[in-house]
Amino acid sequence: MIHVGFFISFEGVEGCGKTTQIKLLSELLAARGITTVLTREPGGCPIADKIRTILLDAENRALSPLAELMLYAAARTQHVTEVISPALTAGKVVLCDRFCDATVAYQSFGRGIDRSVIDNLNKHACQGVSPDLTVLVDCDPAVGLERARMRIEATSGPREERFELETLAFHQRVRSGYQQLAAQEPDRFMVVSGSGSIEEIFSTISSQVVVRIPEVLRAIC
Ligand SMILES: Nc1ncnc2c1ncn2[C@@H]1O[C@H](COP(=O)(O)OP(=O)(O)O)[C@@H](O)[C@H]1O
Ligand SMILES: [Mg+2]
Repeated sequence: MIHVGFFISFEGVEGCGKTTQIKLLSELLAARGITTVLTREPGGCPIADKIRTILLDAENRALSPLAELMLYAAARTQHVTEVISPALTAGKVVLCDRFCDATVAYQSFGRGIDRSVIDNLNKHACQGVSPDLTVLVDCDPAVGLERARMRIEATSGPREERFELETLAFHQRVRSGYQQLAAQEPDRFMVVSGSGSIEEIFSTISSQVVVRIPEVLRAIC
């Protein structure tokens, strides 16, 4: 399958501002005539959304690290097959709130699962799809967790907080994992500090992202 679109993923610890920033970016691109497919992981399609509820349900304390990893891989396979791959093949710009780097950061750096197991599963789940650009919103987990806690308290519906209930040390390993991934692939990653205001962070992201979307795509979107 040939992908001619442009794939941007957003990554970072809980509460760093991924969902806030990705939404602002999709609105900005829409205003400039670039239609995007805005999606998220875990989830992004009905079957994967069902897996999401298992993964984020704080009551599932007994979920084993390996079962967790495989549920992420299952959800990702479905999401890539149903949503991401067809959109990229159709030449669209895809914005995804978390993707395969999250599995490396959380399940390998966070939980300690062997990196080769994760890389192998990710390879199968992604089916040749990989982000052209990954925006890492780098944030102190203590700051992010406090923001996420306030968001959860203010939201009705199921409390998606299984990861928010992990220790600060776990989230620090995740942050460090993301930083190492970014250092290994500086061309793909754009690292933005998540400690400023929403407007400051978005100003940095938008100015850099817009120029990285290929000219040819801007013309056809
Ligand atoms: N830079 C920021 N400063 C202060 N609050 C923020 C900032 N970015 C996001 N928030 C708020 O923090 C909460 C978590 O942000 P969110 O975008 O949901 O983070 P994530 O998707 O990374 O978990 C939201 O209530 C959001 O409005
Ligand atoms: Mg979010």
